[in-house]
Amino acid sequence: MPGFELINKKEKDAVNSVFKNGNVFFRHGFENLRNNSYQVVNFEKNFKNYIGSKYALGVTSGTAALRVALASIDIEPGDEVITQSFTFVATIEAIVESGAIPVIANVNENLDLDIIDLKNKITKKTKCIIPVHMLGNPCNMKEVNNIASQYNLYVIEDVAWGLGGSFKNKKLGSLGHIGAFSFDHAKAITTGEGGMITFSNKKLYLKARAWHDHGHENNPKLPRWEDSRKSSGFNFRMNEIQGALGNVQLKKLNKLVKYQILKNKNLSKIVNRYNLITRKKYENSISTCDSFIFFTKNSNDAIKLKKHLTKFNVSTKILPEAISWHFVGSFNHIKEIKNISFLKKDLKKSKDFLSKAISLPIMINDNNLEKKLSIALKNFFI
Ligand SMILES: Cc1ncc(COP(=O)(O)O)c(C=O)c1O
Repeated sequence: MPGFELINKKEKDAVNSVFKNGNVFFRHGFENLRNNSYQVVNFEKNFKNYIGSKYALGVTSGTAALRVALASIDIEPGDEVITQSFTFVATIEAIVESGAIPVIANVNENLDLDIIDLKNKITKKTKCIIPVHMLGNPCNMKEVNNIASQYNLYVIEDVAWGLGGSFKNKKLGSLGHIGAFSFDHAKAITTGEGGMITFSNKKLYLKARAWHDHGHENNPKLPRWEDSRKSSGFNFRMNEIQGALGNVQLKKLNKLVKYQILKNKNLSKIVNRYNLITRKKYENSISTCDSFIFFTKNSNDAIKLKKHLTKFNVSTKILPEAISWHFVGSFNHIKEIKNISFLKKDLKKSKDFLSKAISLPIMINDNNLEKKLSIALKNFFI
């Protein structure tokens, strides 16, 4: 359920405050105009406190967050980065953009990163693993971290969907070396477009901070235009309006996740009446329950049921449609995905699991979902 549903006067006031404080939209400089207002800096501070990470860096999108994260670990052409078959195209784009080779592991029947396949795909060239907490459900971070330390690999969590979730009582985004978050229109909190990167390691944070800002070190002893630099970079800076929105939205996050978890419980009870299996989570972990996911027997049933649900005004989200934008085996358009025909065969297991899953969006403004689903399923299974 996207945070945009919760937007009210508080977000408008926060944005207006940026206009009131000298129209300074830029996170750096203009000290004489900005009335000591630093929205992005505050958002970063509040965010790292929420996640329990040492450092946080605001960026322009979740895709940028992944790209900057990869730059901070000094990815080089030819390095391999392993991620999972069930993810949005952005994860692959960031890997390709960094010059690395994307290597794709299957997901298991619960649609999380398949740990055995992950291990099988490690080579001498592997530098990093990107587990993706798809639709808010945590991957098995204990196993991912064990493998990473065994092979001396970096772990970048793709937390685009996982903000507010946790694994073994630690917030998602604080379990790997780096966490990459998205605040686009569909996510738990939104800043229009935007993203955040969390770090436990100061060296990685400083590298990322410079790289996302043309290499600027923001040396406090120097004016910005005489600033020191050690590396090249790019521009992925978050602006003050995004920071202002983020600060307000973050305060609404806990309430939102609580609501989603409650809705998921209610919906689970309904589908359990028909012996349909729901997506599981690991012990001592919290899924943000961004969407409600359950499984049919096979892909034909999923398609049939999806059509039926639509008639009863129950819409689906990503699943079973994942086969288009959220399944790497379909990304024929990315030329760097080498040997797509091999990949399609290799990811057959993932495709089978994905195509029998159904995911329902959980929206605050859809109070009737339980009732609608109840009636639709009763009708379907008569
Ligand atoms: C898994 C995943 N990673 C990264 C992103 C990229 O986020 P953004 O849209 O903010 O660039 C998305 C966006 O939906 C996503 O689903």
